[in-house]
Amino acid sequence: MAGAFITFEGIDGSGKSTQLRMLASELRQRGQQVVATREPGGTPLGTRLREALLDAQEQVDPLAELLLYAADRAQHVRALVRPALESDHIILSDRYADATVAYQGAGRGFPDQLIAEVVALATGGLMPDLTLIFDLTVDESLRRTSRRVRDDQQADRLDAEDAAFHQRVRDAYMRIAAAEPERVKIIDASGAVEETHAEVLKLVMPFLEKHRSGVSL
Ligand code: TMP
Repeated sequence: MAGAFITFEGIDGSGKSTQLRMLASELRQRGQQVVATREPGGTPLGTRLREALLDAQEQVDPLAELLLYAADRAQHVRALVRPALESDHIILSDRYADATVAYQGAGRGFPDQLIAEVVALATGGLMPDLTLIFDLTVDESLRRTSRRVRDDQQADRLDAEDAAFHQRVRDAYMRIAAAEPERVKIIDASGAVEETHAEVLKLVMPFLEKHRSGVSL
């Protein structure tokens, strides 16, 4: 496939969505064809699944939650990500398969083997070319998300999880990065937005150059 698939991950409040928007706009200014998307919610079906998943009012069973994220991903991969990759776009996705490993695996406690099988089924084996994990302490993340809730912006069901849950998620992301250092890079997300953006560019620009020259060989 000729395009490039880059995913953005991190615990809630890590600032990854802002960073994704900034990178998308930078790449477009440089003349690249970019698709900015997210999970859950990258397709019309996904938008409806996202509403159901993040509804703060409803108690969602953990197995139902796992399968709904998988359903969102199956639709996303087949309807949007693969076609965009095949037509040579750079796809920037706010979360993907690593989020299921971190949240449903480490966070909720589903066994690794089950998570691996569900992820493989939903993705059809498509993994990102590059994954950026925006890292932040859980304390700072909770400070940021409680500020967001106070300011009345999108308080969702997972924001309400306790610190131990978010710590398990963060630790899982660190393990993913350690296991796949070529694909997965950690970015310190504790600084100012512009500083973090500079870090993103430092990683992504050389990656794209290398990826593109590899693809055209
Ligand atoms: P967002 O706030 O980054 O858009 O993500 C929405 C929430 O969905 C976030 O709390 C993490 C959660 N999530 C999972 O638990 N598993 C998944 O596979 C994905 C994609 C997201």
